[in-house]
Amino acid sequence: MRMRLNAFLARAGVTSRRGADEMIKAGRVTVNDRLGHLNDQVSENDVVKLNNKQIRLRKSRNILLYKPTGYVTTLKDPQQRRKVIDLLDISERVVPVGRLDYDTTGALLLTNDGELANKLMHPRFKVDKVYEAVVKGIITKEVINKLNTGIELEDGRTAPAKAKMIAENKIELIIHEGRKHQVKRMLSAVGMKVIALHRSKYAGLDLSGLKPGQWRDLTEDEVIRLKRYTSK
Ligand code: URA
Repeated sequence: MRMRLNAFLARAGVTSRRGADEMIKAGRVTVNDRLGHLNDQVSENDVVKLNNKQIRLRKSRNILLYKPTGYVTTLKDPQQRRKVIDLLDISERVVPVGRLDYDTTGALLLTNDGELANKLMHPRFKVDKVYEAVVKGIITKEVINKLNTGIELEDGRTAPAKAKMIAENKIELIIHEGRKHQVKRMLSAVGMKVIALHRSKYAGLDLSGLKPGQWRDLTEDEVIRLKRYTSK
């Protein structure tokens, strides 16, 4: 894949793109032993050196995990509970994109591509998250209408969700925000207690072929699609 020289340096984890521009302008970067320029296009086959030391692209790793219940998505847990990253036997340092509660199951993306993770979590890109909530209480049309117009929470009004009843005691809720305990709080605000919460889809990625605790690498096409999603 060809990219601008500053993007290469940023993806190698050396600095930000802007920082890379400064290094290039200062004459500290060479491409195949020639002085690098701001507009140079390079690929992983080129020899890029910073201060005469070769810089290699970090291999990007993007993983879809079927999070089981009973795991935290944080990297450290003061209560020493089990962590989702312990389910992955990989050498790359990936981080979860956003959070799922300890007792929530479902689609969780993990990546070592910080730029992609930040974009996916940024409200601007409105990444769809599909949740299925088993609830205690009666699901009425009014409940669905309220969810679809937005709910007043203590940290402000939510954007309208796309809600529908999928069984007598089960609601599907599509949202693109990612506030803490958002689905549970939205449902509690309309009088529904969540008994079980599952995320069936994240950014169009579903869990087909995976069982709880299992994971797979995203395909190149899926990664390209995610990047397109976040480049609008
Ligand atoms: N909303 C919640 O309340 N919990 C989750 O884990 C995800 C969304």
